[in-house]
Amino acid sequence: MPYPPYMEESIRKLEASRQRRMKEEIPLISSDERDIIVRKYHPDYRETGKRKLLLGPNKDETMPEELANQLEGNSRVDPDKVDLSKIGYDVDVLIIGSGGAGLSAALLAQENGAKVLIATKLRLGDSNTIGAEGGTQAADRPNDSPVLHYLDTMGGGHFENVPELVWAMARDAPMAIKWLEDLGVNWDKETDGSMRELELAGECRRRVHSCKDYTGLEVMRVLRDEVRCRDNIDYIEFEPAIELIMDDEGQVAGAILVNLETNELSLVRAKAVIVATGGLGRLHTQGFPTTNHYGATADGLAMAYRVGCSLIYGDSIQYHPTGAVYPLQFVGILITENVRALGGQIINIDGEQVACNLEPRDILASFEIRECTERHKGITTPAGNVGVWEDIPLIDMIHGEGTIARRLPSLVHKFSRFNIDLIHEPVLVYPTLHYQNGGVRMDANSATEVPGLWVPGEVGGGVHGRNRLGGNATLDIYVFGRRAGREATRYAKEVKLGKLTLNHVRQWQKELEWLGIVKERPFSPMLLPNYARQPSDYLADLYTEKLQSGLVKLA
Ligand code: FUM
Repeated sequence: MPYPPYMEESIRKLEASRQRRMKEEIPLISSDERDIIVRKYHPDYRETGKRKLLLGPNKDETMPEELANQLEGNSRVDPDKVDLSKIGYDVDVLIIGSGGAGLSAALLAQENGAKVLIATKLRLGDSNTIGAEGGTQAADRPNDSPVLHYLDTMGGGHFENVPELVWAMARDAPMAIKWLEDLGVNWDKETDGSMRELELAGECRRRVHSCKDYTGLEVMRVLRDEVRCRDNIDYIEFEPAIELIMDDEGQVAGAILVNLETNELSLVRAKAVIVATGGLGRLHTQGFPTTNHYGATADGLAMAYRVGCSLIYGDSIQYHPTGAVYPLQFVGILITENVRALGGQIINIDGEQVACNLEPRDILASFEIRECTERHKGITTPAGNVGVWEDIPLIDMIHGEGTIARRLPSLVHKFSRFNIDLIHEPVLVYPTLHYQNGGVRMDANSATEVPGLWVPGEVGGGVHGRNRLGGNATLDIYVFGRRAGREATRYAKEVKLGKLTLNHVRQWQKELEWLGIVKERPFSPMLLPNYARQPSDYLADLYTEKLQSGLVKLA
């Protein structure tokens, strides 16, 4: 499915402007201008699609509606029907989720002497980490330092990040890269054997370590192998957690799992619980498509909220500026920021640059939305989606022939399946839901406000302020995953669990009833998104068809 002729026409304009654009340097905008454009165009600042929470630790705060529904959801378990004496698994540390944070936590917990169980919704490793393309930041070059990394991260987050968390992440970063390399990760190297590092948007140095454009896949290859071959780490697949269990001392003491095939519940008693279930992309806030895997439905946020954990920046979502728009089968998938780092520019229908290609994500996303909605300079696809071009072929003109094929092999392969040749043709892009900037409030070891519960990775919040920089998500999961694994084990060695209870669920349901919203709220966690067409969709189609044929008249 190559581009249709009218899109080809716009590509000719883009090609005609290439020589000029190669010499054209668009400056980064000032921080005052950034505030203006973000407030005007970024989806986080829209009035619609949000509401105030009615209960829980963040009561009266405004959140995206889809997240608010999950946080205020009905429990999937009836506490009166669960026999808490029937323990299926008894472990030191239970880890819920098996992406980069969960597996890093498992390895460190095991190394520190814990008996570990990983419970995961899909297959071991199915997660956003496995789809990570870009890479991982770490200041390990002589001209760089964790202090510069810290400052860049704070600036990218509009200085709203929790400083203690940013410092922990920047300081541990070089060690995390080395740890992964020692385990077997093949980081990209220069011909002299030194690390090949890229500078992504908002970064003052080249510090992003990658494995071509499938970095997460390579890291997860290694972490999964490591987890599988170690003693004292067990894992259960296709059994997500649906509720945390507490004890009568107010400590988290395990979780209830559901078997996705049989719907049977099983109980895990654990001295410490690490929730590493990742993000919320599949909630499609503000109606955006997403880069996220199917399991990213905010499960960890919902479960942690119900036991009393508060959220920080739950209203801050990252819309990555380069999600694919065409072909239809690829809507929302990630076009890695490495393309921009290598010189790929963002171009409108007339062949003009939309903004500097190294603007941070929230800024560039805002520019693109302005270009397509207010300036009407986007390109509309046959399916009615709109986007701007990302000029990938420019990369070979800047760095020499063969660079695209060498550095972006997975992207080139993906699009070739639809007869789009990214070495010679641009790709159409628009913002796509990529990441939750906030999450459950935690300390520098990922511990929450509730004893016995840790939240490394995307479930945890505060590290990235209101906008995460590229390469800091995968770093966050290794750093805080490791810290959580170590600290949870230390805690598990000392804690004495009391009597198990689900009274927090009883209390929660009572509050929903008291507020009169039991019937309005969905069950949460959602577990998997429902993309099946509903009867109302068919009615809407029928109505539209009739409208088009003139059978129904609008009032
Ligand atoms: O664009 C990317 O490859 C994404 C990287 C990230 O989110 O850190």
